[in-house]
Amino acid sequence: METKVISVLNDLNTAKAEGASIIRTGGLVAFPTETVYGLGANGLDGAAVDRIFEAKGRPNDNPLILHVAEKEDAFRLWAAEPPHARVLMDTFWPGPLTLIYYRSAIVPNEVTAGLDTVAVRMPDSEAARALIAAAGVPIAAPSANLSGKPSPTTAEHVLQDMDGRIPLILDGGPCRYGVESTVLSLVGVPTILRPGAVTKEMLAAVLGEVALAPSILAPLSAGEKAASPGMKYKHYAPNAQVLVVVGEAEAAARRISALYDECAAAGKRVCIAATAEAMPFYGDRRRALLGERRDPATLCSRLFALLRELDREADVILAEGVDVRGAGLAFMNRLLRSAGFRVEYL
Ligand code: TXA
Ligand code: MG
Repeated sequence: METKVISVLNDLNTAKAEGASIIRTGGLVAFPTETVYGLGANGLDGAAVDRIFEAKGRPNDNPLILHVAEKEDAFRLWAAEPPHARVLMDTFWPGPLTLIYYRSAIVPNEVTAGLDTVAVRMPDSEAARALIAAAGVPIAAPSANLSGKPSPTTAEHVLQDMDGRIPLILDGGPCRYGVESTVLSLVGVPTILRPGAVTKEMLAAVLGEVALAPSILAPLSAGEKAASPGMKYKHYAPNAQVLVVVGEAEAAARRISALYDECAAAGKRVCIAATAEAMPFYGDRRRALLGERRDPATLCSRLFALLRELDREADVILAEGVDVRGAGLAFMNRLLRSAGFRVEYL
């Protein structure tokens, strides 16, 4: 199958019309959102949704998010109005927050992987909402990467993974946030299953109490059940081995420099994923800039793109870890998974 790429920046009308016609006939379209690129299908058509799992090589017990163009469209996907939903939607939608609650009868099993709940979000990306509105159905979409690879934050990343597997990629340029949406369950105490750009602090300001699923910063222990099925899989992993060192900038840089020299002496191709604050402490060792510790959103927006770039030129990636305040939590959640939880705390 030939994979066509159309820019939404040049011609949104053509892009959304071609995309919507593929979605309506049961096909797959990759599209930009403000978080990462999604791989979309008609979310009310189980057979279409099955094609997503096939194209990604995704285990089919991992449920998908339904994307809507209007707030009101969310309510027919849930069995009842979720507690706190109105205030959360008014504060954070459109935007990078996914809400989980009991599903309604129109949601196919293929979307929820058999769970009795469904995840819904209204993206802030204009192109995404235009596509959903033109298709006239909610669009089921996971990130548009091959299962296990870093999520795509440019159309070029999508093409690397999906060339020949899907008919159309809509190119909207680089994604603003670069990590996937915050996933919040509204069943029982509001619980963050996956952290994102809508932070725990931002949610707590609206809700008061917010819990964090235990698997956010640690691997699941044997026999433990994942609150979010996606958390149990190897994730965001490049082929290169990633090792994380968490500590204050200068101390982390000293430890990483020592590890770098060991790897280099062993003949490995090694590269450092560094923060701006630690840059001056690496001498002339090979390194790439992740972003700034003082603004962890910058770390999020570069992480996946950097992992893909470094993967081509390094066997080992040594990365700095940071505090888990604000967007730092989303960054550390993704970084630790890409490292298979190989981490040193100083
Ligand atoms: O930003 C995003 O959320 C992107 C863009 C495309 O919207 N999408 C995305 O989808 O990241 P995906 O499939 O890669 O991640 C969805 C996450 C998975 O961890 C999945 O297990 C969880 O949400 N999830 C979906 N439905 C769920 C449910 N009913 N209960 C618990 N977890 C659920
Ligand atoms: Mg994903």
